[in-house]
Amino acid sequence: MKKIAVIGSNMVDLITYVERMPGQGETLEAPRFAMGCGGKGANQAAAAALLGAPVLMLSKVGDDLFADNTLANFKRLGIDTEYVTRVPGTCSGVAPIFVQPDSHNSILIVKGANACLAPADIDAARTPLRECALIVLQLEIELATVYYAIDFAHSHGIPVLLNPAPAVAGLSRAHLAKLDFLVPNETELALISGQPVTGVESARIAARGLVAEGVGHVIVTLGAQGALYVGREGEFQVPGLGVAAVDTTGAGDAFIGCFARHWSDSGDLRAAITEAVAYSACSVTGLGTQSSYPDASRFARFKHTFATPVALGEQQ
Ligand code: RIB
Repeated sequence: MKKIAVIGSNMVDLITYVERMPGQGETLEAPRFAMGCGGKGANQAAAAALLGAPVLMLSKVGDDLFADNTLANFKRLGIDTEYVTRVPGTCSGVAPIFVQPDSHNSILIVKGANACLAPADIDAARTPLRECALIVLQLEIELATVYYAIDFAHSHGIPVLLNPAPAVAGLSRAHLAKLDFLVPNETELALISGQPVTGVESARIAARGLVAEGVGHVIVTLGAQGALYVGREGEFQVPGLGVAAVDTTGAGDAFIGCFARHWSDSGDLRAAITEAVAYSACSVTGLGTQSSYPDASRFARFKHTFATPVALGEQQ
């Protein structure tokens, strides 16, 4: 299997489970806290690696204890960290996250060292990058670096995927047109397309517009509704699995890491999207970000359980 390159962020997730968000000037006790490895780039790399893909990570950490933890985590997952470098005098990226009882989250990010990932870092890794099956990008690093990576991938004929998260207005149309894959959620799709997106039909119309502008394939993640594909292979929706979600943090990243792993191996779009919908559904049944991502054998058990109808007498 050829490597997947992830050029992007890593963060330390500081996750507080709240009963409700505090109001201005209010101090509120929360029942639970957890710290874990996160960052959209790192999460996507982790999901792909847990499912058996060889992954090359380009990222920046600070010179603090968080950096040691992030590097150790990448190594534990078997991710190639040759191009994950420390930035002296800078903090690592951190993400305070608040998860509500309905499983939904609010996230703040402090980019820290992630803001230092530069076009020169892509030049430094050009030799291994040229060997990769897919380059995966998000928007938690500087936009100039994202655009440089898209140009690099395009000029070398390497398939490139952009997850436009967190949502940013005014992305360059010329760079969007160089993408093989754009994987937004509904909010991000609305911002990029300039059209309201409130469900599958409006997502379909907005995605068609982007395909007409040159994006190869648009895959819209729809949360509990699964995912919508619009592109050169036609249009289809893969429905959600209807799981009971406890924490949706990082579900979109789980989807992308799983999609990247399967598409780069088989080139089968529908199969890769179907796997990715199931993998992200599995992730929302566990707490935390990467801590909720199953490895290949746990994921196989999840799919088996989910595909096996419960006999009436066994229902609780
Ligand atoms: O997509 C979830 C991620 O967003 C979290 O891990 C957090 O670090 C932020 O980057």
